[in-house]
Amino acid sequence: MADSLNCDLKSLSPLQLFERVTEQGEKVRALKAGKAPKDEIDAAVRMLLSLKLSYKTTTGQDYQAGLPPKDLVLINNGTTKEEDEDLVDPWNVQTSNAKGVDYDKLIGITLPSLLLRNLCKVILMTTETARHHNKSRSKHHRDMDQILDAYENKKPFYLYTGRGPSSQAMHVGHLIPFLFTKWLQEVFDVPLVIQLTDDEKYLWKDMTVEKAYEYARENAKDIIACGFDINKTFIFSDLDYLGTSAGFYKNIVKVQKHVTFNQVKGIFGFTDSDCIGKISFPAIQAAPSFSSSFPQIFNGKENIQCLIPCAIDQDPYFRMTRDVAPRIGQPKPALLHSVFFPALQGAQTKMSASDPNSSIFLTDTPKQIKTKINKHAFSGGRDTIEEHRKYGGNCDVDVSFMYLTFFLEDDDRLEQLKQAYTSGELLTGELKKVLIETMQPLVAAHQERRKQVTDEIVKQFMTPRKLAFEF
Ligand code: TRP
Repeated sequence: MADSLNCDLKSLSPLQLFERVTEQGEKVRALKAGKAPKDEIDAAVRMLLSLKLSYKTTTGQDYQAGLPPKDLVLINNGTTKEEDEDLVDPWNVQTSNAKGVDYDKLIGITLPSLLLRNLCKVILMTTETARHHNKSRSKHHRDMDQILDAYENKKPFYLYTGRGPSSQAMHVGHLIPFLFTKWLQEVFDVPLVIQLTDDEKYLWKDMTVEKAYEYARENAKDIIACGFDINKTFIFSDLDYLGTSAGFYKNIVKVQKHVTFNQVKGIFGFTDSDCIGKISFPAIQAAPSFSSSFPQIFNGKENIQCLIPCAIDQDPYFRMTRDVAPRIGQPKPALLHSVFFPALQGAQTKMSASDPNSSIFLTDTPKQIKTKINKHAFSGGRDTIEEHRKYGGNCDVDVSFMYLTFFLEDDDRLEQLKQAYTSGELLTGELKKVLIETMQPLVAAHQERRKQVTDEIVKQFMTPRKLAFEF
């Protein structure tokens, strides 16, 4: 039977094999949960091992739940123990490592040197700030080389990013992908579309449709306050735009037709008791990756390449999108991941809008910022001043230092702080003071800009229209 199984398996594609392993894993779990007879469980486990082995022989990779074999090269030599693994999906970012998620291991692609040189070329054209943005905010990509080629050959492309408007309170971490996107838009001078997934939040959270719709508008104000160019940026709420754009909806159903329930189960962990809204939602997040979803911007042109800057937790959506794209005759979107922003309590956790102490919010007062940093920012310093002076602090786990790598624009100053802290010359309280003095004016300036964003401006950004580009 093993032979016929192997023979049978040889004809399967890596993705089909992946699905077989996933299904078998589920079966084993169900048998165990249902306390099935031991020999039945053993047989199912043997089958699972055999499937995993075929998977490894076919793909050269170990099977990893939720990570289908796609275009990405996984670095997993099988030596890591499960409890050391990072768990990253749209709803969880967990790691046992105080330095945060190990992106190299998770994605397995770092910028190849040639590409780095190309990126540097682009970066040279911009300011110091830009260099800083790129250095600390994005490490991983998929197909970024194609985007740079397009840029060099003057071929058009566009940017797509988004936000799930889960509450009125946005924190400074939410700004990172947007600041990064803004920088990219300035460097490349291309159209940008921003999706507000109020539908997603309605489906996932305990929230009315009206509330989700309202949050989308409130969040749009914070996004606009980052300084996006109204002539080059289209912001849309799914609840609004989906009903008005045939182009968008056509792409949604195309994606829906080409992704099976099994595939989304494997990628997102859906179960039979999830509502069908959740199960079909990934198609709605995929569709803006295709230019035909925005005929008003691209003059009806299809196949314009898309680049998606996003936080790493959105990667599952876009792995699915890249997998389905060729099957519906569309180019795969390229991706640039911005590094996940740590909670004040440390890089092991994701910030949560429901825990006011987990981050600095865009609505915080200078006093709140000061208290939060002093009280809650996880310190990489030593227990006593004597020890700190003797052994120095650890920047790799110090949250104040991590925040400074995002928000302190002056690279040289950052380097000086690092050395002083590591050598023990600078104490935790002093480092925190630098962070407080950096964040207070930054948040105040954001609040000031947000105040200027009227409902009329929001409406303009959110009106489907042609942008300042000819296609
Ligand atoms: N699902 C994302 C969130 O919950 C929102 C989103 C939609 C998004 N489209 C995107 C994020 C594209 C990044 C890129 O925040």
